[in-house]
Amino acid sequence: MCGIVGYVGRSEAAPILLDGLRRLGYRGYDSAGVAIVNGNKVETRKCAGRIAELGKLMAERPPTGTYGISHTRWATHGKPTDQNAHPHFDATGRLALVHNGVIENYQALKDQLIRDGDTNFASETDTEVLAHLIGKLYDQSIAADTSSNGKTKAELPNKKGRLVEAVRTALRQVIGTYGIALVHRDIPDFIVGARRGSPLVLGVGKDENFLASDVSAIVAYTRDAVYLNDFDVVAVERDKFEISSVAGEGGNYQVSKVEFTDADIKKGDYPHYMLKEIFEQPGSVRDAMRGRLSQEECTAKLGGLNMTPAQLRDVGRVVLTGCGTALHAAMIGEYLIEQLAQIPTEVEYASEFRHRNTPMTRDTLVFAISQSGETADTLGALRESRRKGYRTLGICNNVASTIARESDGGVYMHAGPEIGVAATKSFTSQVAILTAIGLLLGRMRHLSTSEGTRIIEALEALPEQIEEVLKLSDQMKAIAKKYASVSGLLFFGRQFNFPIAVEAALKLKEITYLFAEGHPSAELKHGIIALIRPDLPSVFIAPDDAVFSKNMNNIEQVRARKGPVIAITSGNCAKQLKGIADDIVTVPKVPDFVSPILTVIPLQLLAYHLAVELGRDVDKPRNLAKSVTVE
Ligand code: M6R
Repeated sequence: MCGIVGYVGRSEAAPILLDGLRRLGYRGYDSAGVAIVNGNKVETRKCAGRIAELGKLMAERPPTGTYGISHTRWATHGKPTDQNAHPHFDATGRLALVHNGVIENYQALKDQLIRDGDTNFASETDTEVLAHLIGKLYDQSIAADTSSNGKTKAELPNKKGRLVEAVRTALRQVIGTYGIALVHRDIPDFIVGARRGSPLVLGVGKDENFLASDVSAIVAYTRDAVYLNDFDVVAVERDKFEISSVAGEGGNYQVSKVEFTDADIKKGDYPHYMLKEIFEQPGSVRDAMRGRLSQEECTAKLGGLNMTPAQLRDVGRVVLTGCGTALHAAMIGEYLIEQLAQIPTEVEYASEFRHRNTPMTRDTLVFAISQSGETADTLGALRESRRKGYRTLGICNNVASTIARESDGGVYMHAGPEIGVAATKSFTSQVAILTAIGLLLGRMRHLSTSEGTRIIEALEALPEQIEEVLKLSDQMKAIAKKYASVSGLLFFGRQFNFPIAVEAALKLKEITYLFAEGHPSAELKHGIIALIRPDLPSVFIAPDDAVFSKNMNNIEQVRARKGPVIAITSGNCAKQLKGIADDIVTVPKVPDFVSPILTVIPLQLLAYHLAVELGRDVDKPRNLAKSVTVE
């Protein structure tokens, strides 16, 4: 995915665009650029590398002007080079365009443009093809003005209308996804935006308006936002905007208040967003539960699911889908819903689910889990499920995201903005919500009021227990230093903590670039044991639960082969591990179904401290982007 920011107003556009890009840096960071219009000049600065590089370029030669567009890129077509960095231009160099998404039929469109005599392409990108197409259609429209079939000038659309029409006509030819913003040198104080499959938000200011891929880019300037819908085209001026559809119809929109403030997206005193977000977990888990647990009825209240008691009672099967960390939360959800509600539950990679023909029963309830609410594969899975007529709900953090809007209902995480590319607080919020869903479905069936109360108490105790676990940060830092020279780590867990092994391995891989794998502990002896050696530590997630003694057996098997062991445990089990595990990390003892919310935190901290120790760019790891809006 990439990040887009556009501005039209009375202030200098350059600092606003650069500031917005810095805030969107998590969306992609392999090249960046701006185009600002100043009189009859389009001033462009763009380069490969981080936004800081663009900042230097802009400081050396500051572009001036009060409207413009900008972009931070995560490469899909073409390498991250200066040439491939956005903005891209039409054949005349008067129209500049930035794009987030993939134009799947760009080669066919390009071939047609070339056949029509346009060979002036400067990059390998799909985006440039779209810029050329819109520019060509606009120029043709202007040229047609001279042969206007006797129409008076007043009857002809003005330049703004012509540009919007050219955008619509071009987008009707496009197969793929896009969030775009564009400016034209000949049309002052005017930006056009459009979206399909890639998010785009209009920020409504006073005498100024904004476009952005995410409100976090513009919340410092305005908290009034219009979340554009797929196929919306928006024409933006300083003091007004007009929304229509690609088909040319009037668009419906609503101005919403952004939930968070600029202060919420600042790092504060933390060196990295990831650390800040790890430490926000007592609050984010509390917010995920706020107003959703009823002591009186001993159940969860999740009105956003939009389901009647009878419908909830009749759910016969659950499918949980998502990608990456959200998928790992789903894996815990499977254990939770099956244990608490006794409903057969399956986890599906969104990328697989959307393309394979999973047999489903009529009473299947599908949950699409996504922090961003924009992940292309999860969105694809949601659409496929809804197309087949299954009730499909979302568990999202990003309010008004595409998944949240397209689902039949759902549960918002209310975790606040998550900026670090490595997902942390969204994971614990997702698991807390899945526990509440298990409780709700269970209480529609066999769970007694006392069991319901026990689950509520366990959930309500979590924020304080997370505070306790966060005190382990220094211990995890010391462990990270001790193992800083290892070539990789293995993670093992059982039952509710098997998915934590997989999640911990993902965290480690993405921010330290070390090799890591997560497995069910018992799988060790079925092959992985061949890897055990003194320079490859194994992390066992072995809290004080029903399977602790089984985990102990596996730990002994590793020790017997001289593999170092780091144990994440709880309660009295720490004593049993003394002299057996090399490092023992103790979290509070809690019921097994909530333990993953505590055991994951030391492992988030381990990945974080190891990444810092290795000098990695924690918040912007190489090759990654915060949410993946392409397939
Ligand atoms: O926004 P989503 O929750 O849909 O994102 C899904 C994955 O791309 C995401 O969890 C990814 O795996 C994270 N970088 C993991 O830390």
